Amino acid sequence: MDTRAFKQELQRRKELIDNSLLEYMTSIETHPTVIHQAMHYAVFNGGKRLRPILVLEGAALANGKPEKVLMTACGLELIHCYSLVHDDLPAMDDDDFRRGKPTCHRVFGEANAILTGDALLTAAFELITRNTQIPEIRAEQVIAVINEIAAAAGSQGMIGGQVMDLAAENETIDLSTLQSLHSMKTGALFVASLRAGALLGDMDSKGLQDLTTYARHFGLAFQITDDLLDIKGDQSILGKPVGSDAKNHKSTYPSLLGVEQAEKLARQSVEQCIDSLASFGREADFLRQLAYFTLERKS
Ligand code: IPE
Ligand code: IPE
Ligand code: MG
Ligand code: MG
Ligand code: MG
Repeated sequence: MDTRAFKQELQRRKELIDNSLLEYMTSIETHPTVIHQAMHYAVFNGGKRLRPILVLEGAALANGKPEKVLMTACGLELIHCYSLVHDDLPAMDDDDFRRGKPTCHRVFGEANAILTGDALLTAAFELITRNTQIPEIRAEQVIAVINEIAAAAGSQGMIGGQVMDLAAENETIDLSTLQSLHSMKTGALFVASLRAGALLGDMDSKGLQDLTTYARHFGLAFQITDDLLDIKGDQSILGKPVGSDAKNHKSTYPSLLGVEQAEKLARQSVEQCIDSLASFGREADFLRQLAYFTLERKS
């Protein structure tokens, strides 16, 4: 798969996820309309959809049927969107722009933004349970996936990482603490995404282990790049403020190690992504390209 084919496939999957989200989510006319409007506002705004794309890829590598896992894929995007709405709140990162638009709380007010996050999180699990309606997917597979996603989003996963992120403001932390912060706040959801697709596709345990290793390194490379874009990015492309981390005195890879060393570690993580796929053939080329893409992305 060359870069052009990869970019086309990325776009095709993004459109598939966008269309599916629109189909699955409660419409904006539904009472009480303000919450459904705010949920749509937080979801339909040009996100890259990488987590659901990883769910599809996990299923494709396991048995070649990504269309069977669309509900779980969209559920993971709803969890991610909720995390962004809350992450931007004044009590957290206090940011005014997200995906090129004013943040949810700037448009709908703080109380509604908190409730929007809550509603997206609960809607996610409602949607994931609906994956049991798809023939070939067994209820016990869905239960195993829900268990992993809930853990990854919770106090020992994403929320735990967000707590550590806030606690590390104005502090100097060591590299291993920063690495575990990043793997919890960002890596955990990527791991759960790729594993969810693979579990629903009945992948064998060796394949599952390799994909888990890939997603761990991918999450780290992704968050280091996010930290770098917060310094060197172009806000008009990034869609969110540049300099947010400096404003909040965050502990990040570049703040701890400098830009050059952070770039080097991101590259190393991508190399580890590639190494983790050694047992796969050409069928894993999409994941290989995705790992390189995360280094060069501008948004
Ligand atoms: C941003 O995630 C938050 C992080 C965990 C770094 P993305 O860069 O995937 O955001 P969207 O979904 O494309 O807007
Ligand atoms: C947020 O990390 C990770 C989440 C779990 C939302 P950041 O705070 O760096 O994400 P951005 O830069 O605001 O997207
Ligand atoms: Mg944050
Ligand atoms: Mg933030
Ligand atoms: Mg950031």
